[in-house]
Amino acid sequence: MTRRFLFVLGSSRDDGNTELLARAAAEQLAEDVEQQWIDLSDHLLPDFEDLRHDSDHVRPTEGNVGLLFDATLAATDIVIASPLYWYSLSGQAKRYLDYWSGWLRTPGADFKGTLAGRTLWGVTALAHEEFEVADPLIGTLHHSAAYMGMRFGGVLLGNGSKPGDVLGDTEALARAKTFFAQEAPLARFPYETP
Ligand SMILES: Cc1cc2nc3c(=O)[nH]c(=O)nc-3n(C[C@H](O)[C@H](O)[C@H](O)COP(=O)(O)O)c2cc1C
Repeated sequence: MTRRFLFVLGSSRDDGNTELLARAAAEQLAEDVEQQWIDLSDHLLPDFEDLRHDSDHVRPTEGNVGLLFDATLAATDIVIASPLYWYSLSGQAKRYLDYWSGWLRTPGADFKGTLAGRTLWGVTALAHEEFEVADPLIGTLHHSAAYMGMRFGGVLLGNGSKPGDVLGDTEALARAKTFFAQEAPLARFPYETP
């Protein structure tokens, strides 16, 4: 299967550090790897409504929800590119993940079965220089991958406050060059034995 990367951008500003870092990593992808970029600020999702236990689920076909649903199912690799906001995902990125909970129950879609074995990656920029403060974001993405039976490629981290700062983080740019070439093992919850 040809690899198809979906980049979901979750910043609240254009041309931010997270997107710059994600684009630096994406530059290294082979030409035959398809790329789709969706900026959640240009494709706003309505407030997530928890209808999991209602019976009237329908497959989303229209608007931004339909676009993201189809793009997510079509991707072999999903990259959540979210700035670090309060040590975790931005609201936009978190809302996109919340939608996955509804999509798990969409009739005829087999959302979980389709994503199982595919790969989740993260990219984030943060103002803090001590990257361990991003552990909650990393844990959110890792555990979400484990829940979905997905592989997890890790999170590419870069430092920056104002837009463009990350281009001065030479170590992050060096990591970006090989980031998507890394092994992405199946994600497992910490309590699971290998
Ligand atoms: C709402 C908000 C919350 C933030 N929270 C954190 C944080 O918890 N830790 C941190 O290091 N930086 C934090 N920052 C700084 C951003 O992570 C930083 O400016 C980053 O470069 C933004 O990425 P972007 O340019 O892709 O939007 C926060 C910024 C905003 C606007």
